[in-house]
Amino acid sequence: MSELYIKAEAAMTQEMLQKKRSVDILSEVDSTNDYLLSLLKDGRYQRAVIAHRQTGGRGRLGRSFYSPEGGLYISLDTEIPGDDEKFFRLLTPAAGVATARAISETTGIDVGLKWVNDIELDGKKLGGILAQSTVCPDGARRAVVGIGINVNITSFPDEISSRATSLLLHQPDREFNINELAVAIINSFDHYMSLFYAGDKGVIDSYRSLLTTIGCAITVIPAEDAPRFSARALDVADDGSLIILCDNGIRRLLDSGEVSIRTN
Ligand code: BTN
Repeated sequence: MSELYIKAEAAMTQEMLQKKRSVDILSEVDSTNDYLLSLLKDGRYQRAVIAHRQTGGRGRLGRSFYSPEGGLYISLDTEIPGDDEKFFRLLTPAAGVATARAISETTGIDVGLKWVNDIELDGKKLGGILAQSTVCPDGARRAVVGIGINVNITSFPDEISSRATSLLLHQPDREFNINELAVAIINSFDHYMSLFYAGDKGVIDSYRSLLTTIGCAITVIPAEDAPRFSARALDVADDGSLIILCDNGIRRLLDSGEVSIRTN
């Protein structure tokens, strides 16, 4: 992709944004999250970074994120008021709601969310969200929220092919406009973040209503070497943790920082 094309693309994307964010569009980067974290360390805020592909795309709990051309890889920064850990924990659900709404508004395809950070379509993974935080030169803690969506990807490596999907695999008769989707996600993210900053509790209710996990039998996979166990997902608490009923009849809260789940 030529330098000129990317510049024109960046100018168009900037024009379409409702709220002022500087946008960088890169043909290739290791990880848009790492790129944005380094800009934050240089004191450059209110930005969005979009890449056409990532060579070291990262997921939650140290996993990698398959990031070839044809996907959307985007990172946005946002402030964490008062360095509030609870606020940080709710960023992933809020970004999930913003992304799901943006996808359905731009494509007409309704997607769901799997606790805590997966975007789901046809029971498979369409994308994911990774929130990270850093202390900036002005002393404020800011978060980088990275969103990856499999848009026009037509095949996946064997190890994930049974669990992953894309918008194009869902609707093979059309090609999706990645820039249009990127702009919609940025605007939607800024919209939901302003509600969230204003203390609106509706964001977690919207998250609940988009969750496909509630009522499902699940396997809980601890991040450490602790054994996996099965349970049933009952609900999501207002702080974003998952309320589960273990097979031994005990209710527990799962903290998104520590575990992932698989629906059975
Ligand atoms: C997950 O599935 O656990 C989260 C995946 C998050 C992927 C996005 S792509 C843009 C941003 N850059 C990264 O390296 N990761 C996030």
